[in-house]
Amino acid sequence: MAASGAPLWAVCVLRLALATVYFQEEFLDGERWRNRWVQSTNDSQLGHFRLSSGKFYGHKEKDKGLQTTQNGRFYAISARFKPFSNKGKTLVIQYTVKHEQKMDCGGGYIKVFPADVDQKNLNGKSQYYIMFGPDICGFDIKKVHVILHFKNQYHSNKKSIRCKVDGFTHLYTLILRPDLTYEVKIDSQSIEAGSIEYDWNLTSLKKMEKSSAESKDWAQAKDDKSQDWEKHFLDASASKPSDWNSELDGDWPAPMLQKPPYQDGLKPEGIDKDVWLHQKMKNTNYLTEYDLSEFENIGAIGLELWQVRSGTIFDNFLITDDEEYAENFGKTTWGETKVKNRTLAELQEPPPTPSQLAPTPKASNGSNP
Ligand SMILES: *[C@@H]1O[C@H](CO)[C@@H](O)[C@H](O)[C@H]1NC(C)=O
Ligand SMILES: *[C@@H]1O[C@H](CO)[C@@H](O)[C@H](O)[C@H]1NC(C)=O
Repeated sequence: MAASGAPLWAVCVLRLALATVYFQEEFLDGERWRNRWVQSTNDSQLGHFRLSSGKFYGHKEKDKGLQTTQNGRFYAISARFKPFSNKGKTLVIQYTVKHEQKMDCGGGYIKVFPADVDQKNLNGKSQYYIMFGPDICGFDIKKVHVILHFKNQYHSNKKSIRCKVDGFTHLYTLILRPDLTYEVKIDSQSIEAGSIEYDWNLTSLKKMEKSSAESKDWAQAKDDKSQDWEKHFLDASASKPSDWNSELDGDWPAPMLQKPPYQDGLKPEGIDKDVWLHQKMKNTNYLTEYDLSEFENIGAIGLELWQVRSGTIFDNFLITDDEEYAENFGKTTWGETKVKNRTLAELQEPPPTPSQLAPTPKASNGSNP
């Protein structure tokens, strides 16, 4: 990991005691990043990265990051850190990306991998936990991906989040919280937020699993002659006594069934299927099994993407459990240099004129509006 600059430590000194920083990379030590980042050799055609602050920048050294250098290539590079689980903790993933080449079609996202990822062989099929960040292609695709791996499948966010399409440096932040809420920020501004359950189509996943669990287990329960009903089932046929006062006495505890309520050849009686399912789900922490945002063995971050026109710069990577630390890190890195970055860009490159926006070969359309 790159050493933090002094100003950052000064700003964050109070937070440091509380925040856990799993990974932080600012590329402040020259070519030493090559010892920390592993270029995949899975395909000899994979594109190469170099360290660069680009054609315009706010600070020549601080704004250096990994830049894609070859057009029409796949790229695959990654860095490791000490593996951790985000169970019960907030997870913040943040980085900056600058498409100074005026991106027409290409990925600007990062992937977070399990610790056992094969870095030397990193490729499009390498299983990841999280994919996050902008993706641009033509007029149709200008979105921020948030893809979570869960139960051997990748799940995309349902809400479409629009990404930035200009050539400046932008700060992208993803926050996954243990209460199953999430937030996506661009340039420190909240762009999308909500419940992971609703925004990842989990409701349908849950329904599917529920109905299959229901039919399978219920059939088994009915067939299992030695089933100890007593332990599992409420007597759904019993009703609350008329003199029961819920305010004084609390919730009325439905009596448990005393005995297996059936004999050979008879169906279970007096058991309501919904009550049975409810009890079963309660007992097995059914809901917490649907935590899409919980990853056991997070251990690497990488860039695995395709670009038609190269020149994108990735910088200021951060993975932490502390939202405030990330906020400060964003301010002291991206925040410090963004204004100068823009001014310099405008001096060097006036806004493109319509003639410069003429179609380029291969790309379906030239620049972004
Ligand atoms: C690329 O990686 C895959 C596994 O992900 C492997 O089967 C294949 O042999 C690798 N190719 C090279 C050239 O190493
Ligand atoms: C939600 O999930 C169901 C079942 O997996 C799938 O058929 C449907 O297309 C999904 N909807 C969206 C918007 O992803």
